[in-house]
Amino acid sequence: MIGCWDAQAASYEQKTASVERRFFADSRRGVCERAAGSTLELAVGTGLNLPFYANDVSLAGVDWSPRMVAAAERSARRLARLIALTRADATVLPFDDERFDTERLTHGAIERVHARKCDRR
Ligand SMILES: C[S@@+](CC[C@H](N)C(=O)[O-])C[C@H]1O[C@@H](n2cnc3c(N)ncnc32)[C@H](O)[C@@H]1O
Repeated sequence: MIGCWDAQAASYEQKTASVERRFFADSRRGVCERAAGSTLELAVGTGLNLPFYANDVSLAGVDWSPRMVAAAERSARRLARLIALTRADATVLPFDDERFDTERLTHGAIERVHARKCDRR
C-alpha cells in the first residue's frame, strides 16, 4: 500500500486537479479553518490542505508514504507554512494521547497494510 502512494506522489496533484477544483477545494477550507490549537493532519498527502489552516494553528502531519511526505514538505516550503511532518502509519501514531487539540482527515481513508493489492492507476 505504501508503495502505491509513493508511486502516485509525483503526479497526484496533476491527476486530481479537475476533481479538486470541482468538489474538494471548498470543503478543504471548511474543514481546516475550524482547526484550532495544536493540530494533527492524518494522511496529509501532498499537503493540499496547508493553505487553509489559520496562521496561529500549530500544525503537524503524518503520512506513511515517504514520497507524499516529501511532496508535503515542498508544499510547506512554497507556502512558507510551518508543519512538523512525520512519516508514520496513522493506525499506530507515534504520539502521546492528548498531544493534539484537533485532528483532521480529508478525502481519503486510513488504510491498513496488506488491505488490498495496489491497482496501478
Ligand atoms: C487520497 S490521498 C489524500 C491526501 C490528503 N488527505 C488530501 O486530502 O489531499 C490518501 C493519503 O493517505 C495516506 N495514507 C493512507 N493510509 C495511511 C495510513 N495508514 N497511515 C498514514 N498515511 C496513510 C496515503 O499515503 C496518501 O498520501
